[in-house]
Amino acid sequence: MMSIPLLCCCLISLAAYLSLAYEDPRGQSCGETTYYAPNSTFSSNLDLALETLSNTTASTGFATTTAGDSSQTVTALALCRATITPSDCQLCVDAAASGVRSACPNQTVAQVWYTLCMLRYSGYYFVNKTDYTIAFTLYDTRHAPDPDAYDVKVKMLMRNLSSTAGASEKRYAVGRTAAPENLTLYGYVDCTRDIDGDSCSGCLLAATSAINSCCLGQWAGWIATPTCNIQFNMDPVHEDWVNGPYVNTDTTPALASSPTTEPVMGPAGNGAGGGGLAIKISVILTVGTVVLVAVVLGVAMKWRKRERVEKGGSGISDEDNDQEIMRERIGTRNFIYDLDALVAATDNFCLANRLGAGGFGTVYKGIMENGEEIAVKKLTPGSTQGREEFSNEVRLLLKLQHRNLVRLFGCCVEGENRVLVYEYLQNKSLNYFLFDKSKSALLDWPKRYNIIMGVARGLLYLHEDSQLRIIHRDIKASNILLDEGMNPKIADFGLARLFKDEQTHHRTRRIAGTFGYMAPEYAIRGFMTAKIDVFSFGVLILEIISGRKNYDPQLNEQNRELLKLAWRLEQEGRIMELVDATIGSFSQDNVLKCVRVGLLCCQQLTQDRPTMSSAMLMLSNDSVTIPVAGRHGYQDTPCDPVAPHDSINTSADLENESFSKNSITFSLPNGR
Ligand SMILES: *[C@@H]1O[C@H](CO)[C@@H](O)[C@H](O)[C@H]1NC(C)=O
Ligand SMILES: *[C@@H]1O[C@H](CO)[C@@H](O)[C@H](O)[C@H]1NC(C)=O
Ligand SMILES: *[C@@H]1O[C@H](CO)[C@@H](O)[C@H](O)[C@H]1NC(C)=O
Ligand SMILES: *[C@@H]1O[C@H](CO)[C@@H](O)[C@H](O)[C@H]1NC(C)=O
Ligand SMILES: *[C@@H]1O[C@H](CO)[C@@H](O)[C@H](O)[C@H]1NC(C)=O
Ligand SMILES: *[C@@H]1O[C@H](CO)[C@@H](O)[C@H](O)[C@H]1NC(C)=O
Repeated sequence: MMSIPLLCCCLISLAAYLSLAYEDPRGQSCGETTYYAPNSTFSSNLDLALETLSNTTASTGFATTTAGDSSQTVTALALCRATITPSDCQLCVDAAASGVRSACPNQTVAQVWYTLCMLRYSGYYFVNKTDYTIAFTLYDTRHAPDPDAYDVKVKMLMRNLSSTAGASEKRYAVGRTAAPENLTLYGYVDCTRDIDGDSCSGCLLAATSAINSCCLGQWAGWIATPTCNIQFNMDPVHEDWVNGPYVNTDTTPALASSPTTEPVMGPAGNGAGGGGLAIKISVILTVGTVVLVAVVLGVAMKWRKRERVEKGGSGISDEDNDQEIMRERIGTRNFIYDLDALVAATDNFCLANRLGAGGFGTVYKGIMENGEEIAVKKLTPGSTQGREEFSNEVRLLLKLQHRNLVRLFGCCVEGENRVLVYEYLQNKSLNYFLFDKSKSALLDWPKRYNIIMGVARGLLYLHEDSQLRIIHRDIKASNILLDEGMNPKIADFGLARLFKDEQTHHRTRRIAGTFGYMAPEYAIRGFMTAKIDVFSFGVLILEIISGRKNYDPQLNEQNRELLKLAWRLEQEGRIMELVDATIGSFSQDNVLKCVRVGLLCCQQLTQDRPTMSSAMLMLSNDSVTIPVAGRHGYQDTPCDPVAPHDSINTSADLENESFSKNSITFSLPNGR
């Protein structure tokens, strides 16, 4: 069924994939309630436990250990995929032992999942205790053909494998079956080997019942509880899948005839049994995992609600929105790119294919052998800054999917080379059209409005709806790419930073970003909140409406600075004079609304600026009253060291536009 070249390709990319699998967990669950201190007994017991796992797991693929006596004991467990070699297992467990430390830096309960192994530790003793709580899910965004028939196949295969695993000594099962359209569906399930067979089957069936809420109809899925995990995929990304036994799901007996399924499962689609069990069983990771699941569900529901509200408001929403949220790609075949393939695709990164350059790398257009167009961002070699941003970007972006964010396809890490592969967008970036009088007429008012709304959605997702809350820090016209329908996608998350819920204010030593778009508190004092993106968004709105840059040295003193000009026009009741002459016909109310929101976003005081969700609300809802903006960002700023006119936008050259990145450092008298 599978051709030799395709198979080779799979195996090669599998090998490449494995090398990256050790860089980061595919999933993690960190307890949120108790922490240990840096040099505590717990910490040294944890070190000992992790070292013991590294020493003992590889030979059999499974180990548990307990370190320390009495109060600060640490119990830990590691499990490798059953079919891999001891040396692969060793590599993975070593990576997990250090990875869990960085993923969950001081939690007393933690678990990480890697492609080939998982590792768990806790201050509680959990060996021999089955935990049915869903702790982590991951899935491929691609849809399987004929989803109804496919879902039946997936569940049948998972049920068969669940019973098979329970009966096997190593508590795992692997298999494949026929899927619609002559495709093959592969499955793998396993449990930690400390639990008995019936508990293992029950745990796997509980995970199977979670398919309904996680990954129905998706090309691939991975669901884990602390003690077991199920995986299905239509790509054979693991070697064992290629030779896995064929499971004839068509003749699998009805569910009721299998005694092990009784406590957990109702008929397909009924998840209630699994929920009951989860409560019944004593759980260790419960708090962390429940929080995680609740956050995931909460975000998904919030999004659905918001999308419903928006519908009709702008008319831009589509059915796929819900689905784009919270998805992670596990179609590993495309995830890691071969350097040779990228060299070929870009003609050895030749100048003719250059699309642009940013602060730490150059972007090229590439065409893969199969004709697919990609954008390849090659980072400046040897630049530690670039590397840092790189790992940041890969880690974050792979987890983020939204139609107003540029899609990351994968990356390449070979030797000194750090390369990112993105979707290629036909129409370049917003500044290419907006600031060129011969092209700006292509952007009529409906298109500009669509761009404003799209950027707002993308930012809202970053700030409030994504699993990782992210401050972009460099929102500007050249970072807004346009697809063939002129829909905006936010690019360059290299500056994005995680920020935790409880920390609303961050101070950062290294100031990144682009002057002119920079909120004053950030430019001057390095004070970072999501409101700095709101500020930049406001500047962007004014640029989109006026068709001019935030700073234009060719204009006279009075009009150079867009913000000052806009404020003056607003005060004099002449704000409509700001509107670009090439914008075509437009609704005055709509334009006015956008300008007002833009002005609100650029206010000097952080607390006066709206959040992205209230900005979104004002933009999409005509009945909301927009308050009058107060002082703008750079008004009367004392000792204005980074006023916009010191900035970069004095040159039309894209290349220079971000020269300011990382170039200034502020010392903070009372850093954290
Ligand atoms: C913790 O241990 C490290 C190295 O063992 C040491 O450098 C550091 O000062 C210790 N910190 C505290 C708070 O004891
Ligand atoms: C792990 O193995 C190394 C090398 O054999 C040994 O030095 C170390 O003591 C072992 N650690 C534990 C905790 O068993
Ligand atoms: C460790 O835990 C404390 C809470 O006790 C938390 O405030 C702190 O940020 C944590 N440190 C790290 C590095 O996560
Ligand atoms: C765990 O359960 C198995 C049987 O299921 C038993 O043989 C073993 O002694 C138990 N281990 C612990 C530490 O309770
Ligand atoms: C599946 O394979 C059969 C025989 O190999 C072929 O006749 C049929 O057209 C294929 N169906 C699809 C949807 O490719
Ligand atoms: C799983 O499928 C295989 C092959 O179709 C079959 O032999 C086996 O009995 C099934 N196992 C269970 C528990 O349903």
